[in-house]
Amino acid sequence: MMSNILNINNQEYTVSDDLLTMPLLKYLRESLHLTGTKNGCEMGLCGTCTVVIDGKATKACRTPLKRIIGKNIITIEGISFTNGKLHPIQQAFVDCGAIQCGFCTPGMVLSAYSLLIVNDNPTRDEVAKALRGNLCRCTGYQQIIDAVIEAPKIAKKMKVKLIAGCLQ
Ligand code: FES
Ligand code: FES
Repeated sequence: MMSNILNINNQEYTVSDDLLTMPLLKYLRESLHLTGTKNGCEMGLCGTCTVVIDGKATKACRTPLKRIIGKNIITIEGISFTNGKLHPIQQAFVDCGAIQCGFCTPGMVLSAYSLLIVNDNPTRDEVAKALRGNLCRCTGYQQIIDAVIEAPKIAKKMKVKLIAGCLQ
């Protein structure tokens, strides 16, 4: 029998058969207590629940566990450094004033992360396109786009790699 294994932030979790239809968002927040992934709408509309699955930004509220068995999932908890330092994308959000209430921020950061995996020098349009599934009711988006553009430079300043070097 194949076991239902998920890799979340570089740790393996075995999911029992009765949980296979549970959305990843509920599993993260209620079973694993990884509450950095936010529940905004549970309908796939707001992007606050965005995580990175096999490199792609994905809405956890619309993703049943059975669809992601064997995949690699990164949540906001998984991109911080083990020494407690912010990830350069998070630092960029702070430096650029891209955070107000902060509710959209984990999802925004992970959408940015998945873009920067494939393109570490994006244009403003490319950033806007990558973030179009993430709603922010506070910032007006410009500072968020600024932050994503700035993140690769901040990684250089921090002398860390933008993608490697994290828990993932
Ligand atoms: S909570 Fe998933 S898109 Fe809103
Ligand atoms: S900072 Fe409040 S929703 Fe984006």
